Amino acid sequence: MAGLSTPHGGTLINRWVTGAEATEKLREAEQWPRLPISAWTLSDLELIGIGAFSPLSGFMNKAEWESVLDTMRLPSGAVWTVPILLPVSEETAKTLSLGQHVALVAEDGNIYGTIEVTEVFKGDPERESAATFGTTELEHPGVARVFARDPWCVAGPITLLRRQQHEQFAESYYDPAQTREIFQEKGWKTVVGFQTRNPVHRAHEYIQKCALETVDALFLNPLVGQTKSDDIPADVRMKSYKVLLAKYYPKDRVFFAAYPAAMRYAGPREAVFHAMVRKNYGCTHFIVGRDHAGVGSYYGTYDAQKIFSNFSPEELGIAPMFFENSFYCEKCDGMASEKTCPHSSEDRYILSGTKVRAILRSGERPSPKFTRPEVADVLVAGLAEVKPVES
Ligand code: ADX
Repeated sequence: MAGLSTPHGGTLINRWVTGAEATEKLREAEQWPRLPISAWTLSDLELIGIGAFSPLSGFMNKAEWESVLDTMRLPSGAVWTVPILLPVSEETAKTLSLGQHVALVAEDGNIYGTIEVTEVFKGDPERESAATFGTTELEHPGVARVFARDPWCVAGPITLLRRQQHEQFAESYYDPAQTREIFQEKGWKTVVGFQTRNPVHRAHEYIQKCALETVDALFLNPLVGQTKSDDIPADVRMKSYKVLLAKYYPKDRVFFAAYPAAMRYAGPREAVFHAMVRKNYGCTHFIVGRDHAGVGSYYGTYDAQKIFSNFSPEELGIAPMFFENSFYCEKCDGMASEKTCPHSSEDRYILSGTKVRAILRSGERPSPKFTRPEVADVLVAGLAEVKPVES
């Protein structure tokens, strides 16, 4: 499988400028028009800058956006399944001119980067939602966000000039260039990436360890950017991952890093996107289980696996590893999946995400057959400090 972990598009993009050059460019950018950006866009800016979204070197233009919606590929042919856009108000859009350099200003008032405007265009929320999420229903959190945001977009190459400071778990942030180097130093030839927006429950642990039986290492890469308000907050989850890794995982075969992206809830399309990004972090394999990146009942249980058949192994450049619905089975007396367990649903210990959150929020611990007790303790304590928010 040599060469599988080549960055998507062939080269790891680096649009991050540091040191004296960054200071100089920030001084210059102070004189430029200022474009306010949301926390979501700031996260996209950073991920483009550090190459996690290679081959993107900026926010998409209309041709790229349309190509992604219609063909699940960039105009270059590279697989890409979700739009990465810089939304602006119509008012601002009308003030921008092509070739102009604009400072990107986050909610804290700081300039984090710049964009060279190559195009300003009006998107179409309905078309984007139908293609990306397979629905235009506003109950879908991804659709709601697309409709809530300004339909005008600014396209062009970006430069990342400042990084977000992480007060908590700062030691868990690694850029793709770093993880690629670390994987190499450790001598790992095959690394399987695992995306999650949840605590790692027994089913997650089971599929990770099944995968780890056949590859050199596991890259546990939980998403810590924006999620919907009823998902378990990232800081609580981060504590739970640390405890779990310390107690139940082999230290020399696991690498842990936060993935600072927002959750799109685009199900199948997001699974492919997640795989491409983990390829940029240096993974050769990527786990796709049941209803990956799904929400409600918008996607079929295995749609996020089926979508991969639209692409050849060469164009993916990372091997998806598919897992069926997994659970603890009383009769098997252990973890199993629909593929390996012959027993009925009464024998299986399955909890929905909503049910688990309700148990945890009531201060109870789910069964150790569902969640490791050490993880449950961290979650119960963490959630006691967090007020539930209506989604
Ligand atoms: S996701 O939105 O980040 O995909 P989640 O954190 O629940 O949600 O899932 C992480 C990964 O584990 C996904 O690939 C998902 O398909 C898989 N997964 C979650 N629960 C199970 C399960 N019980 N059986 C098999 N795969 C699962």
